[in-house]
Amino acid sequence: MEKTDKMNSDDLSKSIQESVNKDVQYSAGGVDPFLKYIGGKGKIAAILQPYIPEHKTYIEPFLGSGAMFFRTEPRAQTNVLNDYNGDLVNLFVQLRDNRDKLIEMVWLTPFSEETHRKIYKAYLSPNWQKLPPIHRALGFYFIMQNAWNESVKHLRDPAWKFQTGKAKWTKSICNELFVCSNKLDGVFVLNRHYGELIDNPNLNKEDSFYYLDPPYSMAVEKGYYKHNFTPSNHHEFALMCKKIVGKFMISYDPHPMILEIFKEYNIREVVGFPKEIMITNY
Ligand SMILES: C[S@@+](CC[C@H](N)C(=O)[O-])C[C@H]1O[C@@H](n2cnc3c(N)ncnc32)[C@H](O)[C@@H]1O
Repeated sequence: MEKTDKMNSDDLSKSIQESVNKDVQYSAGGVDPFLKYIGGKGKIAAILQPYIPEHKTYIEPFLGSGAMFFRTEPRAQTNVLNDYNGDLVNLFVQLRDNRDKLIEMVWLTPFSEETHRKIYKAYLSPNWQKLPPIHRALGFYFIMQNAWNESVKHLRDPAWKFQTGKAKWTKSICNELFVCSNKLDGVFVLNRHYGELIDNPNLNKEDSFYYLDPPYSMAVEKGYYKHNFTPSNHHEFALMCKKIVGKFMISYDPHPMILEIFKEYNIREVVGFPKEIMITNY
């Protein structure tokens, strides 16, 4: 990261921007998410989209990579994205508000095990949260692109290492950042417990649509996320969903406990993805 700072210059920024912009394709439909994320809905968003009802406010309380948001067009009048993971939210905020700087830093950050080692060390240090937000955004993005999950448990595992087979740190990611940043323009990005977005009467309205993709029942054992759901969290979540006055769609795994606690709603298997279900209150 130090190297990045030293190399900053207006000329360099300009040349990066020219290079980044020239290949950008604005798709009539949605765009690919910029972030690799475990449980990301990039592949199934197209299957779920026809089931999205008319709405004025789009709310995605469990953001992750935001695959559904990025892939869905047209955008709602008001869009609210949220996740409990502060590093993830900081990355989205930096991409929305500080795009050029972030892209420049990404461009200048070498794709190497050495970079990974330095960032990983910083990530585990107690000073991580004190770093400037743009540096945390770059570091978190690097970890996510070049490993397979954000779980601190996994990151602390001595067996965890730079995953060359799964890494994605190519120049093309700068284009992805650019396109996604445009889509984030004017979008609210929050770092709250999901329940706060349901208990808020300014959001929970008849013309609101919630796309809910909570951590799945198996995510807790596997330590997929920094914030996972215990069985009681799934029950609490079902009670919170009852309070939604607008429409909601939930993505889940078809665990017997989930099928039982959501049995009052419409449950459909997502065709082609035998371990995915879609639950709607409409
Ligand atoms: C299945 S992932 C979402 C994946 C996302 N739909 C995508 O396409 O990438 C679940 C997300 O819920 C977040 N999360 C866990 N507990 C939460 C909570 N109490 N409130 C808000 N977000 C939470 C996790 O940080 C994780 O990013």
